[in-house]
Amino acid sequence: MKFFVDTANLNEIKEAASLGILDGVTTNPSLVAKEGGIDFKQHIATICEILNNPKASVSAEVVSTDYEGMIAEGRDLAKIHPCVYVKLPMTKAGLQATNTLSNEGIRINQTLIFNATQALMSAKAGSSFVSPFIGRLDDIGHDGMVLIEEIREIFDNYDIKTEILAASIRHPLHVIESARVGADVATMPFKVIEQLLKHPLTDIGLANFLKDWEKTKK
Ligand code: G3P
Repeated sequence: MKFFVDTANLNEIKEAASLGILDGVTTNPSLVAKEGGIDFKQHIATICEILNNPKASVSAEVVSTDYEGMIAEGRDLAKIHPCVYVKLPMTKAGLQATNTLSNEGIRINQTLIFNATQALMSAKAGSSFVSPFIGRLDDIGHDGMVLIEEIREIFDNYDIKTEILAASIRHPLHVIESARVGADVATMPFKVIEQLLKHPLTDIGLANFLKDWEKTKK
């Protein structure tokens, strides 16, 4: 399973990259806004440089809502770095733009996916990633993980190569469940990446080992 960090914060990206488990970064306009007044294209270029891995993927989202605007923005963003995936919303114009840009060889992450038909339509149009938002479905009383399972089943039925990118992940259980049902990628806040590697018994065990080691010196 690939791990992406869902942030535009350079310190978090550097720290996640230093762990040796990071396959990419996803950003969205809300996450970029949190970083204050930045040059967006330069910021995406810096993220790509931090990852320093030709196989990494860095999602940069368009803010146009019309087809022509999305095409222009998408082409512009794709020129920043070979690792860039253009993030397009799952709307009618977004679907049309996915088809046009993917035919030009630009890789697309289709975002704001909330049901299996949206994922299937996006894959047919040529997206590389579909991003179902599981946390936001859970928030409104739907089981986000069921959506991942449905998309997995449908994509497997037709040998669809579009990757399922579990997004809007809120906690470690989302990561475990996404991996169990076969999501290809999990994108998560840096806080969740930190939570994944922690266990209190590890800390207690280490403290006890070190305490016992001190006894060998007496
Ligand atoms: O980047 C898309 C998605 O992961 C957003 O998550 O927590 O804002 O629902 P969230």
